[in-house]
Amino acid sequence: MTSTATRPRGARARAAIAAKTLRTDRWWFAPLITVVGLSAWVIYATVRVFMHKWYWVDQYHYLTPFYSPCVTERCVEGSSHFGSFLPGWWIIPDAALTLPFLLLFRLTCYYYRKAYYRSFWLSPPACAVPDGHQSYSGETRFPLLGQNLHRYFFYAAAIISLINTWDAIYAFHSPEGFGFGLGNIVLLVNVVMLWAYTISCHSCRHIIGGRLKHFSKHPLRYKAWTGVSWLNVRHMQLAWITLGTLALTDFYVMAVAAKWITDLRFIN
Ligand code: FES
Repeated sequence: MTSTATRPRGARARAAIAAKTLRTDRWWFAPLITVVGLSAWVIYATVRVFMHKWYWVDQYHYLTPFYSPCVTERCVEGSSHFGSFLPGWWIIPDAALTLPFLLLFRLTCYYYRKAYYRSFWLSPPACAVPDGHQSYSGETRFPLLGQNLHRYFFYAAAIISLINTWDAIYAFHSPEGFGFGLGNIVLLVNVVMLWAYTISCHSCRHIIGGRLKHFSKHPLRYKAWTGVSWLNVRHMQLAWITLGTLALTDFYVMAVAAKWITDLRFIN
C-alpha cells in the first residue's frame, strides 16, 4: 500500500486494489455519449457560424440564433436589427457580440463542467473510477478559477435571451404584413426552451432565493425560487434540449433561406 509519505504530491489516497475499477456496469457509456454529442454540436455550430450565409429569410423575417444580433458590415439587408458596426472580416462571426458570452455561459455552466470534466478530461470519468490525472487543484487556480465568473455570464445570457425573444416576435411577418408559419413555431419553441435553461441556472436560483434568512418575509421571492428550483433539477435535460433546439432552429432557417424547403404557412 502506498503510504502518504511516498504518494506523489497532490495524488489522493486509494484503497489497495490492483484492478483499475471494480465497476462492472457500462460506466464509460455516459462519458462516451457526451463526447460524441458535444463534439458533433461544436463542429456543426462552428461550420454554421463561419459559413456567413443562409441565416436570414427576408420574406418572413426569420433570423437564426447563431447570427443574432447580426452586427457586421456583411449582414444582408434587413437582418441587422441593432446596427452593423463591425468589419465584415471572415474571421469575425456576424453575431460577434453575443456568441462569446453564450460560449462562456455554457462553458462555465455547472452541468457542462461536470460533463466535460468527466468525458473530455477524465477527471474522473465516473464515480469509483480512477482519475485520469495525477494531481487535482480544483477550481482554485488559473484558468479554472475563471469558472467563478459564471454568475456574470448569466446576466449576459439573460440579455441575449431577450434579444432572441425579440427575434421570435419580429418573425410574425409576411410580405402582406402579419404572418404565421412553421418557422414561427420553431423559433418560439427554441426561445421558450432557452429561457427555461437560462432561468434554471444555479446562479439564477441563488440570485432569486439566496442570502435570505426568512422565506416567510419574502413570499414573492420564495414563490419565484420554488419555480426556479423546479426547473433547476431539470437543468441537465434543459442543457441538452437547448443544444437540440438551437441546432434545429438554425437548420430550419438555413433550409428555408437556401430554398431547400418552403416554409409551411398557416396565415399569410
Ligand atoms: S449552472 Fe448551468 S447555466 Fe448556470
